[in-house]
Amino acid sequence: MAKVLVTGGAGYIGSHVVKLLGESGHEVVVYDNLSTGHRWAVLYGELVEADLADKKRLIDVVSSFKPDVVMHFAAYIVVPESVRYPLKYYRNNVINTLNLLEAMMERGINKFIFSSSAAVYGVPSEIPVSEEAPLAPINPYGESKATVERILRDLAISDSDFSYVSLRYFNVAGADPDGRIGFAYPEPTHLIIRALKAAKGEIDKLYIYGTDYPTPDGTCIRDYIHVVDLAEAHILAMNYLLDGGEKQVLNCGYGRGYSVREVVEAVKKVTGVDFPVEETFRRPGDPPVLVAKADKIKSILKWRPKYDDLECIIKTGWMWETKGIGSRRL
Ligand code: UFG
Repeated sequence: MAKVLVTGGAGYIGSHVVKLLGESGHEVVVYDNLSTGHRWAVLYGELVEADLADKKRLIDVVSSFKPDVVMHFAAYIVVPESVRYPLKYYRNNVINTLNLLEAMMERGINKFIFSSSAAVYGVPSEIPVSEEAPLAPINPYGESKATVERILRDLAISDSDFSYVSLRYFNVAGADPDGRIGFAYPEPTHLIIRALKAAKGEIDKLYIYGTDYPTPDGTCIRDYIHVVDLAEAHILAMNYLLDGGEKQVLNCGYGRGYSVREVVEAVKKVTGVDFPVEETFRRPGDPPVLVAKADKIKSILKWRPKYDDLECIIKTGWMWETKGIGSRRL
């Protein structure tokens, strides 16, 4: 059994990983400032309510817990906000990651799993996009993730004992089927969540941002991945590092894309609600198509997704929304 420090473990993706870790008997400490996470979302382990900017606390926690592996989820994630407040994003996503890495180095902790993003690719020239494509982010959020990836690369070069897996998430959605955790963010911007909220009547209508993209139906195409499959990838990445695996950068997507219109139709079908939809202008900064080349993670980590089905992703998200746990607890 491993000792795992999980920053951001009270958040959407982190809490799903903590659940899997706890279920398989690993010892977990969650380090989270609860700025967007929730105490109730931490189903296993100890929660340390603290900020990554507090380096002294971080070193104390790392020193006393002595984790075998650190998983780093804590970060800001809203792209338009990053354009408006770049310094906020660089401070939290880059500087605070440096604090964490320095605390690890001071205590000889050398295995790290990083939550990266498809945003590091910007507008890729080839689809599906492979891990070898250049880092070319088009917003500060993506830039902050790409910067940390470069820092990790350099750290691994300078210290042969340090190893990491950087997981580049595509469009994460859905919720754990047992209904205790799910997406619980105050003002969601993501397509599937907004469509579910429209179906629930929590918002008046769903806007489709842009119908003149160079895609078959004119709307953007994305690679939607179920949060539990993504969580599973973290467990595999952890085992890989504990077995002595060397550094890896891996796409986390299914390798298949759906257009906004296809997602909207699927949400209407699953929920049985014909909610109002309005077509409007493009949202700035949206790449037309973002689909992962997904073979590397399958061959290196032996990742075998279980929820690779758009309707299943939507169904679990709908269960979470309608059970109301997330909304009630916000
Ligand atoms: N969209 C709508 N209406 C909405 C919300 C979204 O039409 O109400 C469209 C967007 O314009 C986009 C697609 O649905 O074409 C997907 O948008 P999301 O906001 O759900 O997700 P993004 O693809 O913008 O964002 C995801 C991650 C980011 C990451 C980015 C990389 O959530 O963290 O991919 O491009 F940076």
